[in-house]
Amino acid sequence: MLAGSMTALSFLSAGAARAQGQLVMYCSVQEEWCRAMTSAFERDTGIKVSMTRKSSGETFAQVKAEASNPRGDIWWGGTGDPHMQAAEEGLTMEYSSPKMSELQDWAVRQWEQSKKRTVGIYSGALGFGYNTELAKANKIGEPKCWADLLKPELKDEVQVADPNSSGTAYTLLATIIQIMGEDKGFEYLKALHKNVNQYTKSGAAPAKAAALGETTVGIAFMHDVVTMVVDKAPVKVVAPCEGTGYEIGSMSIIKGAKNLENAKKFYDWALTADAQKLGAEAKSYQVPSNKNTPVPPQAPKLADIKLINFDFAKYGSSEERKRLLSKWDNEVKNLPK
Ligand code: F6P
Repeated sequence: MLAGSMTALSFLSAGAARAQGQLVMYCSVQEEWCRAMTSAFERDTGIKVSMTRKSSGETFAQVKAEASNPRGDIWWGGTGDPHMQAAEEGLTMEYSSPKMSELQDWAVRQWEQSKKRTVGIYSGALGFGYNTELAKANKIGEPKCWADLLKPELKDEVQVADPNSSGTAYTLLATIIQIMGEDKGFEYLKALHKNVNQYTKSGAAPAKAAALGETTVGIAFMHDVVTMVVDKAPVKVVAPCEGTGYEIGSMSIIKGAKNLENAKKFYDWALTADAQKLGAEAKSYQVPSNKNTPVPPQAPKLADIKLINFDFAKYGSSEERKRLLSKWDNEVKNLPK
């Protein structure tokens, strides 16, 4: 009896503490940036943040699994597609931040398309990086196009993430289909599979692997390859010649958030010009969504890249995302090499 009420009491007081000054954040960018955001927000507001870093698709799966008893309050970062899917499935909440007027059009469009349930926080183009020393040793020349990644000389020399866990890899899947059409696109992905040495969990891992000389080519967002170049790794960043897709990194408030007021405070804060400067300081070179945040000089120039007219609504829809992921699982992932 006594033990029972003690437990109830400690549960209640934990709940009260949480309601006063805490925030549970799910973060889907690089760990360094997640940590920089967490400490700056704690410093600016006194609110204690408990942060978990996982890839975009993994976080979506977690938010969905926890829907009947949500543990997270805010989901910050990661590609827009699982945020859009979460919005459509009612896993996240509508919110209109007073900061909306400071955002780029593409960030606002993301918010409108999701019926106010997710907002753009940054953008960046997909591409690949290659290790210049390995490219020379393996005599593969300079890969410039998606088509170059199918060369037999690159057998087991290309790394990319698994689109189920990674938003980067889902962006690749959607990009290839939009460039080539679905049938030819899947043919391409099957041919690419022959050259893939590993499907990683996280989207940026292949960029790091190329930098470390563990793979010749790593398919990733170009800004993640730039981080390696800034660290003086022997890698080159490529914007594929056929054109490429891009992401609108997003943020959503989780429906049923136990610390809703703090989630809203974080949301407004994360859209400020100052908070968005933290990306470049943490060596993350995406294009920020606040118009007053300077674009880091290292960020790949989106205007100079042949970007496709990416259909975010279609490829972020629950039905299409589920269909394409299961098709990729059935037709590509387990193909013998
Ligand atoms: O922070 C790096 C980054 O590439 C983001 O731009 C992107 O939204 C996210 O990681 C995607 O990560 P993942 O592919 O692991 O879901």
